[in-house]
Amino acid sequence: MKRFLLPLLLACSLSAYPQAKPQAADPWWKHAVIYEIYPRSFQDSNGDGMGDLNGITSRLDYLKNLGVDAIWITPFYPSPQVDYGYDIADYKAIDPDYGTMADFDRLVSEAKKRNIRVILDFVINHTSEQNAWFKESRSSRENPKRDWYIWRDGKNGGPPNNWLSWFGGSAWTLDPKTNQYYYHYFYIEQPDLNWRNPEVKKAMFDVVRFWLERGASGFRIDAVSRLYEDPELHDDPILPGRNAYGDPNIEHKYTDNFPEVHDTLRELRAVVDRYPGSPVLISEADEPNITELTKMYGSKLDEIQLPMDFQIADVNELSAPKFRKLLDEVNNNPAGGQPHYFFSNHDQLRQWDRYGDGKHNDQIAKLMAALLLMPRATPQMYYGEELGMRTTPPARKEDVKDPIGKKGWPEEKGRDGERTPMQWDKSKNAGFSTAAKTWLWIPPSASTYNVEVEKNDPSSILNFYKKLIALRRTNAAVRNGAYVTLNPDDPNVLSFLRKGQASSVLVALNMSAQEQKVKFDLSEQGIAATTGQLLLSSPSASRRDLVLSGATIPAFGVVIVEMK
Ligand code: GLC
Repeated sequence: MKRFLLPLLLACSLSAYPQAKPQAADPWWKHAVIYEIYPRSFQDSNGDGMGDLNGITSRLDYLKNLGVDAIWITPFYPSPQVDYGYDIADYKAIDPDYGTMADFDRLVSEAKKRNIRVILDFVINHTSEQNAWFKESRSSRENPKRDWYIWRDGKNGGPPNNWLSWFGGSAWTLDPKTNQYYYHYFYIEQPDLNWRNPEVKKAMFDVVRFWLERGASGFRIDAVSRLYEDPELHDDPILPGRNAYGDPNIEHKYTDNFPEVHDTLRELRAVVDRYPGSPVLISEADEPNITELTKMYGSKLDEIQLPMDFQIADVNELSAPKFRKLLDEVNNNPAGGQPHYFFSNHDQLRQWDRYGDGKHNDQIAKLMAALLLMPRATPQMYYGEELGMRTTPPARKEDVKDPIGKKGWPEEKGRDGERTPMQWDKSKNAGFSTAAKTWLWIPPSASTYNVEVEKNDPSSILNFYKKLIALRRTNAAVRNGAYVTLNPDDPNVLSFLRKGQASSVLVALNMSAQEQKVKFDLSEQGIAATTGQLLLSSPSASRRDLVLSGATIPAFGVVIVEMK
């Protein structure tokens, strides 16, 4: 991690942003805290060692108490579970591992009683090879569903071109029965749908209607930038080096980010917009820059309301300048779209260790919480991040469940480490399950990092999250205020203002391991106050105010003050 010398006096210059839009007209998702649940790992209700829908229902009060407004549940549809649900065999049913349709209906209605919305995962790019559509498609070249997937003849005794699967190996697999290759961006068992076929589009939009009619409040759309590929099948450019699977690195030039993706997203948005309650679309948009991310909103804000910002998630170092730049960019995106941040999810190493320095991880976890929850954005949390759950990768190859971990071991250990069971209490299996063996191991840290222990500790990570989420609800400036960057040249402390009408809130996050002096001049913002009243800090401060003309922020400290 880079460290810089602190200039003696930090000049405070401000860049102004448009005021946030009026509150009353805002759709619910603009102020929501979204919480991702990996259902296999959240709560087991029937003692089989795997989480399920009834388990989620039984924990809704916890989520309510935390302050969550919506849960996004990763796939629970019937699936051979090659990719743990991201290989769907039937889009309109529930996998028996997770329960029944009646359990789903009960989950939605119990969540509604608590004002919690349910967002589903929409795996749009590919199905399982066990899906009835694919079974038909592969049965003969003449089958009416043949063109629902991407079938091509081989070339020179091999696959049609050099495209590689994200999960290793060729993206083409030969099906001996019809002697043609099918295309799969991910595992062999996940054939890509052919979105150029109108019947595919119709069938998939029907799936969306089905779940909206059953009470879903929106969708997180999986791998959306991969929907279309080059019909001419040009080879992808080869880059230097090899990846964890031993394949040459390639640029996925001819399989990603085709303009047609946006036509489909507009159509999908029109389908969803016909339903009441402002259903939301969230995209898994691992876009490389703000230009690509902005496209996801649509030029008329007619595509995705909340494209996940992977650039912010993956800064992967505590760098005030890097976060400042990215926050500025997304707050000023030309489409005027709502920023959507996250740090952890079921595909990413957990933030506790990814951003932790090995010594101050709990303090850094609180800093990351403030970074997630205080800017103008819709934040997305991943279950257990509010406890400081850490990544606990498999110790041995034979323990690995995620196929990419088996294939790429030891360089790529797979994603099991960030999918371990939720840590509820000190009882057997951390309160997750009564089974003799749980589907993934319980991390050793579960005995001290769990809901039961942390709820009784005023300085726990959990209680810090609760206080931040409560601030989002109760403080008008945090809820609606514009985002204004402060002290843009400070190499260590990320500071910003949430500028409200009657009051404003200043947030200062010291991203360095040394205490830092800060100084703020808010006159350009029309703020005459010389001190800010403390709303929240970490570590807890002895003073209840912050002198704006000069103050000290402790190492990895968070200070949040209000100026009336
Ligand atoms: C998305 C999912 C990931 C899955 C992949 C293929 O990236 O988040 O878990 O493996 O799509 O469906």
